[in-house]
Amino acid sequence: MFPYKTSIQFDRKSNQPLYLQLSNQIIQFIKNQQLPPNTKLPGSRTLAEQLHVHRKTIVACYEELLLQGWVESIPKKGTFVHRNLPELDQQRLQDEIMVDSKITTGFSFYKNDILPQKPAERKADFMYLDDGISDGRLTPLDEIARTYRRISAKKNVFKHLSYGTTFGNATLREVLVNYLNATRGLYITKDNILITRGSQMGIWLSSQLLLEKEAVIIVGATNYGSADSTFLNQQARLKRVSVDENGLVTDEIETLCKQQPIKAVYLTSHHHHPTTVTLSAKRRIHLLNLAKRYNFAIIEDDYDYDFNYNQAPILPLASHDANGNVIYIGSVCKTVAPVFRIGYLIAPKEFVDEAAKLRGFVDRQGDALLELTFASFIKSGDLDRHIRKVLKIYKQRRDLFCSLLQDELGDFLEFEVPKGGMAVWIQLNTAYSWSTVSEIAKKHQLVIGDWQRYDLANSKHNCIRIGFASYDEIEIQELIRRLKNTLYEVKEME
Ligand SMILES: Cc1ncc(COP(=O)(O)O)c(C=O)c1O
Repeated sequence: MFPYKTSIQFDRKSNQPLYLQLSNQIIQFIKNQQLPPNTKLPGSRTLAEQLHVHRKTIVACYEELLLQGWVESIPKKGTFVHRNLPELDQQRLQDEIMVDSKITTGFSFYKNDILPQKPAERKADFMYLDDGISDGRLTPLDEIARTYRRISAKKNVFKHLSYGTTFGNATLREVLVNYLNATRGLYITKDNILITRGSQMGIWLSSQLLLEKEAVIIVGATNYGSADSTFLNQQARLKRVSVDENGLVTDEIETLCKQQPIKAVYLTSHHHHPTTVTLSAKRRIHLLNLAKRYNFAIIEDDYDYDFNYNQAPILPLASHDANGNVIYIGSVCKTVAPVFRIGYLIAPKEFVDEAAKLRGFVDRQGDALLELTFASFIKSGDLDRHIRKVLKIYKQRRDLFCSLLQDELGDFLEFEVPKGGMAVWIQLNTAYSWSTVSEIAKKHQLVIGDWQRYDLANSKHNCIRIGFASYDEIEIQELIRRLKNTLYEVKEME
């Protein structure tokens, strides 16, 4: 006889009714073969006495087991574990096996080694360098939350809660068309815009639609790492061209065009990632002319358009493109905060239509309420007010960061003060290596991060990109102090 009394345990504080607690435990015993097929279960009165529960609990439990097909009731004989249950070919589900089974799969699948590992957990008291992100503390959360609440309280909100289109919310598309035409000199209509969940989705969609295996895409000798990974994941061939103080060297692009078919050029024209340089007007025109002549796409990732400190932002290539060569990608993720996954892909209608279809495979639609919130946030002028506010703060931070770098660390580092963006491209004196610096920095509670990602073509530039926008003045001073202590320790080791 199965030892029901000692094997069954009830949690009387649980919200789960006793009969379900009991039936779930009996199901486990059946699955584990502790109660094999055809085993007779005790009568309801007997089991109720053994377990000190009401008889109705046992009756309800048996009904549940019957309903689920684990047991069968044979008239005048009683309740039996179902005869026809196949044996479950599993190890016994003990706790430690359950934990193991959450790590390894029982099937093979494609593992991707192109995308970098997620960063490890962060330790308190450590400072982590970033490569140029906004300061979350400056995010206009109150305004955004208020707008979201106002929209959610509208009588007609329910129509936005259902399935919608993969193009994104129509109101946001309209608002963005007007906003981008006015601020970036574009000439687009609603047909030219797809709302994405940030720029990365735009890069991925473009890559999927443009790049077959072995297709050639041109990028900078140093480039935004996630874009590279996205193209490599598509099994495209990356051809790298030099980047100097005027951006991507377009003469090298022309040479490559003469040698082989080129499918696309990816660039961050406004502030090249990672070096921060701006593509000159001459090279912009050259690149557009090349795109027309050789029929390639230009993926223009304008990730930090809004942050320009010395002059007005430079109009994107997309604003001069009359031949349908440019795919223009942007988002509010740098301008407002990365958590708000609202971006856009702007291109000729036929490309946008395909991108919208493709997006449906991974993301049925965006968050319509959030999209409406941002439509209102942009239309009301709140976004521009926010940009003006943070621009001033980030400029002060850039100035402080750069002057401290120069005054305190000028013997070790060289850099140009960036005209825009949220980061500085910093060259370490070649007597030292970022590898050693990054090891020693940990002793000073400073995490340099993945410095290798900038050294793509083994270019020996000895540079990394360090963001300044996300730290306030005190934090910048502390960051420089830790970096200084690190570099002096490295110097003493030499
Ligand atoms: C150059 C560049 N492009 C695109 C992105 C991705 O931005 P989003 O958060 O909008 O996907 C980033 C983010 O760091 C970036 O630096």
